[in-house]
Amino acid sequence: MRLKDCHNFHDFRRMAKQRLPGPIFNYIDGAADDEVTYRRNTEAFDEVDLVPSVLRGVSEVDMSVTVMGQKLDMPFYCSPTALQRLFHHEGERAVAGAAAKYGTMFGVSSLGTISLEEARSISSGPQVYQFYFHKDRELNRVMMERAKQAGVNVMMLTVDSITGGNRERDKRTGFSIPFRLNLAGIAQFAMRPGWAINYFTHEQFKLPQLDDHVDMGGGTMSISKYFTEMLDPTLDWADVEKMVAEWGGPFCLKGIMSVEDARKAADIGCKGIVLSNHGGRQLDGSRSGFDQLGEIVDAVGDRLDVIIDGGIQRGTHVIKALAMGAKAVGVGRYYLFPLAAAGQPGVERALGNLRTEIERDMKLMGARTVAELTRDSLRFR
Ligand code: LAC
Repeated sequence: MRLKDCHNFHDFRRMAKQRLPGPIFNYIDGAADDEVTYRRNTEAFDEVDLVPSVLRGVSEVDMSVTVMGQKLDMPFYCSPTALQRLFHHEGERAVAGAAAKYGTMFGVSSLGTISLEEARSISSGPQVYQFYFHKDRELNRVMMERAKQAGVNVMMLTVDSITGGNRERDKRTGFSIPFRLNLAGIAQFAMRPGWAINYFTHEQFKLPQLDDHVDMGGGTMSISKYFTEMLDPTLDWADVEKMVAEWGGPFCLKGIMSVEDARKAADIGCKGIVLSNHGGRQLDGSRSGFDQLGEIVDAVGDRLDVIIDGGIQRGTHVIKALAMGAKAVGVGRYYLFPLAAAGQPGVERALGNLRTEIERDMKLMGARTVAELTRDSLRFR
């Protein structure tokens, strides 16, 4: 399978599956428990139909949006995700480079495999830092300070991962960090020599946001165990209010799902919230961001920017979210499979495909700007 054969999410997923060792593919592709929420995230979009307007003079379409004070040339961005150099040796460098090319925002994770400073030097576009609040308060202080010094635009605290989700695929494969080859995995890796050659001939796996602080005692742990052992379960609204003040710039909570929490986020000064269930990887059975979007926009849409992520595979998914009132939409696996499949050219092709779909869909909807996409364009079944 080649890059030019990849026209949609499923094509890239297939190509990534051919290239990646099983444990790594399943880490990306997997979710919690029975993966109900993971599937629901995409299915939710099918419950609403688009009602186009016609004859509106749509030769020019402006799909730019402003979210949390950041101007994006297109209404979706690359959500921060962990461990990207494990998927392809270019890792976060490829994603930052592709996001820059398309004029959109991208995120670097606390569990990123290049430093947030290096990411900053690759793209001059808006950069999000995805913060995991660790038990080690000194680490939290240093991460915040580094992000400030580096010129990160938006601080995004993930609040849905206070303990690890039940990722049974990872249990079966033994997927763990810092990444090591275990005996059970070796057969899988031997079957993917292309990946193995790339991985072992490039710089060693590192977590530059954490390295000086997190000592795993030379051992390894699953991502789920990492969340449970390293992150601080005492984290509460008062702590976050302090963080918002300390950061000083746009602050966003990722993983808000209820109206009450959305109101609290606005009360403590957040500029944005991401309705997210972490790609179905944490609480299975959690509602999808899209299903929650309408009532949260109605409750707090005039006080902060409401964003969603999870399950986005098509331009029409983005259009439906925008019409419901989202200010922007985040994608994760949508660019990770292309990264794994082909590095930066893969990510660029995927972002370009989605951009082209949105442009076409806006024309077919009779919308010249994102503001012209409203709930009048939607009918629920
Ligand atoms: C995950 C974290 C690391 O879902 O974002 O695996």
